[in-house]
Amino acid sequence: MDMLPLTREQAYQMVVEKIGVNNLLKHILAVEAGMRKLAEHFGEDVEYWGLTGLLHDLDYNETKNDEARHTYLTSDWLAEYNLPEEMLYAIHAHPGHVPCQSRLDYALFTVDPATGFIVACALMHPEKRLSALDGSFMLRRFKEKRFAAGASRENMAACTNLGLEIDQFLLLVRDGMVTISNQLGL
Ligand SMILES: [Fe+2]
Repeated sequence: MDMLPLTREQAYQMVVEKIGVNNLLKHILAVEAGMRKLAEHFGEDVEYWGLTGLLHDLDYNETKNDEARHTYLTSDWLAEYNLPEEMLYAIHAHPGHVPCQSRLDYALFTVDPATGFIVACALMHPEKRLSALDGSFMLRRFKEKRFAAGASRENMAACTNLGLEIDQFLLLVRDGMVTISNQLGL
């Protein structure tokens, strides 16, 4: 991919302006980090996948009571930047407005719930940190339906469409999140 029409720094400033500095910002940064790690794993464009993660919930505050507009307001706001259609499609696919087709679509769709699930895993681990989590610990939590019940097991399980087993997928997302553990406070 050639230079993206929006730098990471510009996008980050936009996110902070729209979202503020709070748990939602942490979620967004965690998704960005997970997307970057998956891109690296697959030999995809790390900046491109990271930017898709960074922008995915940009309109959350404006659309939280209007699910049908979620992500479409984001694409209106970003129209002047002419972002790749493929990136906008993945953003629209993450809440299920359109079906996942590409690897990028499935990555965002699965990383989004995985970040909250992994934060919950770290919080209930005796060491209370991301770097202490291993695949089997997360897999056991994954199978406990009542643990972090808001994190859709079905959506995360779509990682098989990326050719990844669930524990392997969760470890990759965890590895991405570890790179920003200071910001996540875990
Ligand atoms: Fe999200």
